[in-house]
Amino acid sequence: MATKTENNTSSTVKKDIVENLTQTPESKDKDQNMADSPLHKLFVDALKDIYYAENAIVDALEKMEAAATTEELKDAFEDHQLQTKKHISRLEKVFKMIGEQAEKKECKAIVGIIKEGEEIIKSTEEGSMTRDVGLIIAAQKVEHYEIATYGGLVQLAITMGHEKAADLLDRTLQEEEDTDLLLTDIAESSININAEQED
Ligand SMILES: [Fe+2]
Ligand SMILES: [Fe+2]
Repeated sequence: MATKTENNTSSTVKKDIVENLTQTPESKDKDQNMADSPLHKLFVDALKDIYYAENAIVDALEKMEAAATTEELKDAFEDHQLQTKKHISRLEKVFKMIGEQAEKKECKAIVGIIKEGEEIIKSTEEGSMTRDVGLIIAAQKVEHYEIATYGGLVQLAITMGHEKAADLLDRTLQEEEDTDLLLTDIAESSININAEQED
């Protein structure tokens, strides 16, 4: 009888050990499945797309600042260029948090939007208010692209349980929205009215 009890105890202990040993590989498999899931791949692709876009926007904002007529708009572009550099480093943190390499994937949409901004510079007179009106519209197209992208990324990050990543992406989203509102303010307070009086 005593031997039987001892055997029972040792088999329970053995069972516990086996369960503990198998728990780690199982959870590893679960993580691996998540990393291989189509949604994770889509999330990473979208991050690579906006990582490319943010880098392209840093260069574009420099050209737009140089081309702008008013100091107010030049300052707005300069400030947002600094913010955009922060957006890039936040994205690098997000890549790290989800165990992925920070890589760029060409974003054709932003290439097209930036090209439109370059066309505005070519087709408007240097030193004119009309140029600033065009630059504001071009810059707001960039912001709206970013707002749409980050809005989606924040929600995806929350759904996938990446809370810290969602928080970082949301901070960037807020800055894109604030920039969009600031550009509207600049346009409506003076630039549009002054441009209307140009020949
Ligand atoms: Fe940005
Ligand atoms: Fe932006």
